[in-house]
Amino acid sequence: MHKTKYVKELNLQGTKVLVYGNPSDLFKDAAKELFKTLKRKPAANIGLATGATFIPFYKLVSSRYKSEGASFRKASTFNLDEYVGLEKDSKESYHTYMRTNLFSKIDINSRNSHVPDGSSKDPEMEATDYERKISRHGGIDIQYLGIGMNGHIGFNEPKTPFSSKTHVVTLSRATIRQNSRYFGKGKMPRLAITVGIGTILKSRKIIVIATGNSKARIVKKILTGRPNKLIPASALIGSRNVTFMLDKNSAALII
Ligand code: PGA
Repeated sequence: MHKTKYVKELNLQGTKVLVYGNPSDLFKDAAKELFKTLKRKPAANIGLATGATFIPFYKLVSSRYKSEGASFRKASTFNLDEYVGLEKDSKESYHTYMRTNLFSKIDINSRNSHVPDGSSKDPEMEATDYERKISRHGGIDIQYLGIGMNGHIGFNEPKTPFSSKTHVVTLSRATIRQNSRYFGKGKMPRLAITVGIGTILKSRKIIVIATGNSKARIVKKILTGRPNKLIPASALIGSRNVTFMLDKNSAALII
């Protein structure tokens, strides 16, 4: 596909960190990992994230997968989270985000693309069922993660136990501040279903992506401190199967 163009490879607290000169090189590399996984294991289970960070990633994946010889036909995808109380087809739901940015543009069988159902009458039960679904499929082969301004992964907010399974969460003030822009004033849901930190940690490979200046402070906290429940992404530190992919801006305080 292309030659790897990271400007720096670091090892911080036993964690591999790749820093790229620009987001486009980063996303090409992140997509290459996905295509490699699909070619090696066509029925792979892929863990997907949402957020502004991943829009250019999905654009690249959907435009390149065919020419890279990869197919989603036999694959399954599992998204990390969904807001409680939103219908699947509501404008702000992650179901809609995924359909618009990825699922409608790739050859995945819609029966195999899983997103927690935030419109369920019983969100706790939905969370338990979702956890079971992931484990029945044999766990996640490759998990993509973004990072919230408060260090959340999925919607695992500060103080979530590192052993947590898929559960219903009350969103933090920081997350409500970060994501309110997508909703009308006062309309942002207060609850969500998220895959747990413990579930995420069982993934065979984890790629964490952060871009932009606004992530520089939290990236530094995650990669230079000790694992600490107040920063959920710090649960990833020291694992050999985790790679952080950062652009120069989000890595500004650690390079
Ligand atoms: P963002 O969200 O990509 O919109 O910054 C990341 C996250 O909150 O996980």
